[in-house]
Amino acid sequence: MDKLKDALKELGKSDYYPFHMPGHKRRAGEYFDYDPCLEDITEIDGFDNLHHPEGILKEEQEFAAGAFGSEESFFLINGSSCGVMAAIAAAAADSDQKLLMGRNGHKSAYSGLYFANVQADYLYPEKIPDVSFLGAVNPDDVLKAVNGNASYSGIFLTSPTYEGIVSDVQKICETAHGKNIPVIVDEAHGAHLGLFGGDGYFPKGALCQGADIVIQSLHKTLPAMTQTAILHVQGKLIDRERLRSYLSMFQSSSPSYVLMESISSCIHFCRENEQWLLKDYKKRLQDFYIRTKELACLKIITPSLINQNFGGRIKIEADPGKILIGTGKSGFSGKELYNILREKYHLQMEMASMDYVIAMTSIMDTDEGFERLICALLEIDVQALGQQGSRRRGFEEALEQDKKTSCGKAETVYSIREAFSKATVPVDISKSAGQVSGEFIYLYPPGIPVITPGERIGKELPAYLEEAAGMGLSIQGLRDYEHKKVFCIQDEAK
Ligand SMILES: Cc1ncc(COP(=O)(O)O)c(C=O)c1O
Repeated sequence: MDKLKDALKELGKSDYYPFHMPGHKRRAGEYFDYDPCLEDITEIDGFDNLHHPEGILKEEQEFAAGAFGSEESFFLINGSSCGVMAAIAAAAADSDQKLLMGRNGHKSAYSGLYFANVQADYLYPEKIPDVSFLGAVNPDDVLKAVNGNASYSGIFLTSPTYEGIVSDVQKICETAHGKNIPVIVDEAHGAHLGLFGGDGYFPKGALCQGADIVIQSLHKTLPAMTQTAILHVQGKLIDRERLRSYLSMFQSSSPSYVLMESISSCIHFCRENEQWLLKDYKKRLQDFYIRTKELACLKIITPSLINQNFGGRIKIEADPGKILIGTGKSGFSGKELYNILREKYHLQMEMASMDYVIAMTSIMDTDEGFERLICALLEIDVQALGQQGSRRRGFEEALEQDKKTSCGKAETVYSIREAFSKATVPVDISKSAGQVSGEFIYLYPPGIPVITPGERIGKELPAYLEEAAGMGLSIQGLRDYEHKKVFCIQDEAK
């Protein structure tokens, strides 16, 4: 019996609606002529070579570059992860230089630091007031850093974030380029912005704001298969030969033609059908935000709310395609709301955090899916009215901890590379404050480390992890799957 095949078939037949990745929403068959096995070849005659493209793949990559407005684009079949690592390594030509990096980077950015043997100075985006997630990188922080003593090989930003928060990439690029520093943008969650952004509804993509390298996961927000992504490069600050070499190291030597065909089909499909796809998508989103305005307990965290919360201090935009459903005054934790939507309404959300859930949308969503989500939220809201004010103490405490902890400033004692080379000992998490971590700890998703190897564990971290686990959030990275011990650097053990 093939359990995996059976489970996937079962899901395919069910009425569970996907408000999660991949962006094709399991509807590719309606639009693409598709039998994966018929297309699953290797580099046979006439089909070019991803690691040395001269024919059909070169042409398709050039078409992609034209569609996204880049000088050169590279298909990625190992997700944005491999593009992020290759970009960081390509920029790091001088071993004395550091990377100036948003501390809200995905785990692949930390892997990039490790493989390229680069130290980071971190930029800490501020928390958005009233919600528990991070906002944009402040361009003034970038200015301050580049005018300081350190020399930087690049600036690495995550924009949009998992929650759809877009930084002022243009302003940051102006500052960086004034010092000949390249800007790398992890736009894994914004491939659609690269194609459709800047239309007055969706924020502009990073490429047209001047970023030197932009990496996008096509699979997250566009109709393409899981693992498909693309890397764009422009300007003179990145050595293209280094970039090509690192891409070749980090990508499989047997790139899947199924995935590469999915990349090219996705881009052609979006280009050819852009007008109606976008019109319908925007209409669905606009309708959603209007009809959920009057929720009494749940609170939709709209792009304009996010904007207001920063009071114009820094420019911050949000992707309306990421629907952020705040638990507001409902009394539910994010995970409880996520479970209700899944179990009672068969609506599968992308993720749950402490006090919000994310419904990830794309041009491939349907009117029916949106209608089901709106009706479910209205119904849950009415039921939650009776529970107002009944939040458990632990929940409030966890949120308080979250404000202090997640992505809080931790002292960097060793670079990730140095920390990995040191002997470690297991320490009870409850007693780990003050120790230097020898491993990553993530809350997953989104995969931003709350602590990295080489960082000193803050005093609030143990309680935070305990609360997060108690709320059903997934803690990853620890060698101890029971989450009782964290391996800490022996030399620093107290
Ligand atoms: C911000 C960010 N960057 C990069 C990645 C890695 O993307 P991929 O899964 O395409 O490798 C992710 C994955 O979730 C992400 O959230």
